[in-house]
Amino acid sequence: MKLASLLSAAAFAVLASVGSASSAGLTIDENCNVNKPGDEVSYREAHDVYLCLERKMFDGYNTGPKRWVNPNHVGQYRTWDPVSTLPANPGVHSNRFLFSYVNQIGSATYKQYAEGVSMPVGTVIAKESFTITSKGKAKKGPLFFMEKVAPGTSPKTNDWFYTMVNANGKPAVINVFKACNECHSGFEDTDFLGYPVEEVRRK
Ligand code: HEC
Repeated sequence: MKLASLLSAAAFAVLASVGSASSAGLTIDENCNVNKPGDEVSYREAHDVYLCLERKMFDGYNTGPKRWVNPNHVGQYRTWDPVSTLPANPGVHSNRFLFSYVNQIGSATYKQYAEGVSMPVGTVIAKESFTITSKGKAKKGPLFFMEKVAPGTSPKTNDWFYTMVNANGKPAVINVFKACNECHSGFEDTDFLGYPVEEVRRK
């Protein structure tokens, strides 16, 4: 193919993709529900849904007693360093859209997104989640925490302490070895961290 026709083919491809994206533009109603199925929502569109939901999510997580979950983490994680630029749904955590924050102790190390890291003791990572169903219904999801505790406290989890708060604020009763650590221990080169998908890592 000649250069000119290659270029026009490329231009056409760009136009076609812009055209289809704008013709199916996102609308969000007062309940944060959208006009397309969750698996057709881009990360940027998901961010608009997040902006609609974030207050309700935060208030939900902070409703009621936190019991074994540190209430300061739940009350303060939004003041920590956001390490996602946009919510992304990498297909783990039940295909939810995920958005993470890391406290000051750990954020510089976390944001290297590197192998061979060892997160400092006292690091706490919070991961918010929400779903957009196949009918476009936005649903608040749980808040997940990982906290790095003193060396030797929990060798099986690489000294990570996992907790989860449901969208309604109730701490979730889970077997963290099975429900969290079995999967996270697979990230053995990165201190059990999965990291957000590359396109949404905040540097
Ligand atoms: C099937 C695998 C899997 C299971 C099960 C799982 N996670 Fe994750 N988790 C991941 C992956 C992959 C990431 C990185 C994806 C992202 O942040 O977008 C992640 C990210 C996280 C993060 C942000 C820190 C990081 O790893 O970068 C926290 C906090 C977290 N998970 C907590 C939990 C808790 C608590 C549970 C149990 C209730 C759990 N996870 C269960 C795979 C899993």
